Amino acid sequence: MANPMDLSGKHILVTGASSGIGKAIAITISRLGANVILLARNEERLKETFEALEPGNHSYFVFDLKNLDGIENLIETICNSGRKLSGLVHSAGISVTTPLQYLKLVDLQNIMAVNFYSFIELVKHFSKRKNNNEGGSIVAISSISSKAGARGLTAYAASKGALESAVRSMALDLAPRNIRINAVSPGIIATPIYDGLRTIVNNNDFENDIKKRQVLGVGSPEDVAYSAAYLLSDASKFITGTSMVVDGGYLAH
Ligand SMILES: NC(=O)c1ccc[n+]([C@@H]2O[C@H](COP(=O)([O-])OP(=O)(O)OC[C@H]3O[C@@H](n4cnc5c(N)ncnc54)[C@H](OP(=O)(O)O)[C@@H]3O)[C@@H](O)[C@H]2O)c1
Repeated sequence: MANPMDLSGKHILVTGASSGIGKAIAITISRLGANVILLARNEERLKETFEALEPGNHSYFVFDLKNLDGIENLIETICNSGRKLSGLVHSAGISVTTPLQYLKLVDLQNIMAVNFYSFIELVKHFSKRKNNNEGGSIVAISSISSKAGARGLTAYAASKGALESAVRSMALDLAPRNIRINAVSPGIIATPIYDGLRTIVNNNDFENDIKKRQVLGVGSPEDVAYSAAYLLSDASKFITGTSMVVDGGYLAH
């Protein structure tokens, strides 16, 4: 029986591939046969991900997603060599914890640019006929912050809420083109973002508080990568416009 999770021959762009969840997604989908195009700003760390991929027709691009006007050209450059994209994962993201009174417009704009505006530009250009391989699947890495409030996370939560709302409308726009689009909403996952949070909070309290809420404990980047791989594959061919929660029970309360 053919494996419905098989991604052989598909060209899939993964943003945020130099670290954490994006890196795990890139490695996981390369094991399922995908040709992966890695994107982030840090070339050294991109190379580390590149080296960890299963053999394939992979490449990497050093690019700052705050350069929204450059995204059209970026996608055209990726597709210039004759390859057409079948998949897109937007895992690049930044998070700041700022008390509301100290939240500046520039911080809000910054987080919206990387987490949300760049995604809209990527989807627009991914879905152009000249760049797209007759359909495909798009996955946005969102967060449970889009569904549950947390102190100091106004900007981050708003960016993820925007992402998930946009996914629902874009699913309707893109269905006639045979393109599916979904979000994955992780809970707390052990990546550099999490390590950064842990250093600014008392270690023991932080871990204990998480276990009370997230009953399966802290997740791994692979837990999220398997969900993204499923949504990229034909195994999920009837799923679009939704958000898959991968949160170790956080939202079950
Ligand atoms: N870890 C968690 O607990 C958790 C929970 C829920 C949701 N998420 C979401 O999961 C996604 C990945 O997070 P993570 O935990 O894996 O974080 P991470 O390890 O810090 O990775 C973030 C990635 O985004 C890239 N990035 C940041 N700013 C960029 C920019 N301006 N242009 C291009 N790339 C940029 C980084 O690469 P460079 O620095 O090389 O550019 C890096 O590859 C994020 O969207 C995050 O919001 C994480």
